[in-house]
Amino acid sequence: MSSSIADIIKNRRTIHQFKANERPPVELIQQAIEHGIWAPNHHTTQPWHFHLIGPETKEHICQLNAALAAEKKGEKAAEIKLRRWREIPGWLLLSCDISGDELRDQEDYAACCCVAQNLSLYLWDKGVGMKWTTGAVTRNERFYEMFGLDPEYRQVVGLFWYGYPEEIPQGTRLTLSEILDILP
Ligand SMILES: Cc1cc2nc3c(=O)[nH]c(=O)nc-3n(C[C@H](O)[C@H](O)[C@H](O)COP(=O)(O)O)c2cc1C
Repeated sequence: MSSSIADIIKNRRTIHQFKANERPPVELIQQAIEHGIWAPNHHTTQPWHFHLIGPETKEHICQLNAALAAEKKGEKAAEIKLRRWREIPGWLLLSCDISGDELRDQEDYAACCCVAQNLSLYLWDKGVGMKWTTGAVTRNERFYEMFGLDPEYRQVVGLFWYGYPEEIPQGTRLTLSEILDILP
């Protein structure tokens, strides 16, 4: 039985632990993207682009991340990161156009974030969890080079890890009375 949209929105959580060696099918991710891009988007600029990351590219990212960790925290930390990152089953990159027009760029980034949430909710409904990451590696110039992204014209919105949840964390949010003023 399919969940209601209210349940999907409320129950979706960022997943930090995925079932090892179980990568959801590529077709499912393609469907999620096809649905995800029906997000609101001022002037319908469609500023998004996706890279579905295969094992070879994943390994390059893991190595780059480990190299950055080694510089910052030493070899031991880098080894731990490398092992942990290699266990993450699914990898997807979302980037956004940069036009140079400040308002358009803000709105385009906002539209990409809506796409990201659509993707996440679509997949959650299919039993697939996601984690949106914007760690240092995603801002590194070698990362941009790996995907052929020119930082003058494109920005990384997020690197999305996905897979079947091993553990679903508890979420917390402020209550309605803390965030809502009802005006006369
Ligand atoms: C733009 C953006 C960037 C994020 N980057 C990271 C990240 O780098 N590492 C991380 O652990 N979580 C990241 N997250 C996920 C948040 O930590 C997560 O959404 C938050 O803890 C709330 O948990 P929930 O998604 O389960 O409700 C990011 C979320 C967004 C929207």
